[in-house]
Amino acid sequence: MVSGNGSNLQALIDADLPLSNGHIVGVISNRADAYALKRAQAAGIATAIIMHRDYPNRTLFDAALHQQLLAWQIDYILLAGFMRILTPQFVAQWAGRMLNIHPSLLPAYKGLNTHQRVLASGDRLHGCSVHFVTAELDGGQIITQGVLQVGVHDTPEQLAARVHQLEHQIYPMAVRWLCSGIISLKNQHLIFNGQSQTQPFQLYFDLNY
Ligand code: GRF
Repeated sequence: MVSGNGSNLQALIDADLPLSNGHIVGVISNRADAYALKRAQAAGIATAIIMHRDYPNRTLFDAALHQQLLAWQIDYILLAGFMRILTPQFVAQWAGRMLNIHPSLLPAYKGLNTHQRVLASGDRLHGCSVHFVTAELDGGQIITQGVLQVGVHDTPEQLAARVHQLEHQIYPMAVRWLCSGIISLKNQHLIFNGQSQTQPFQLYFDLNY
């Protein structure tokens, strides 16, 4: 599910998911002008535009999303820049079957404007996290993180661009793990290769800055 540019969607399209028994069934956008829809169409993937403004409340909007997802008979939801907060009821219906990518090293910097906040705080490390979605915003079990160093002269835009490069590496990786059964959620714990994990897998990237 997307709302915007869809560069993470593109990384997933390009990721050869069929090698891990996965494929992208459809793309839902809550915005008709999302460039992500063009990416999906170019790849021959079904699309649906379900606009939140067409529904009087979140519950009915989420019910419309749910119906489309059931119609597509999907197994997993991947949020990729989907800018709506989902209701706890919707999240519960897809517990353990919905992932999100977030541009920070969670649990730090939940929410918006992460790059600006990292620069303002003077942190030396930043990155992105793939996590299961729970009712707490950006609060679900972390699967993996990409980590990079913050440059002394970085602007929010430069930092965002480098974090995006990491996102395009780690999201497809986590989705391959999901599709091939390497990761799952059991009793609210991340299971990796049959073992309960307490720490996310962190990958360090030495991108030029
Ligand atoms: C990414 O930064 C992602 O972490 C966040 O939304 C942004 C989506 O970017 N959840 P794109 O639409 O995939 O280019």
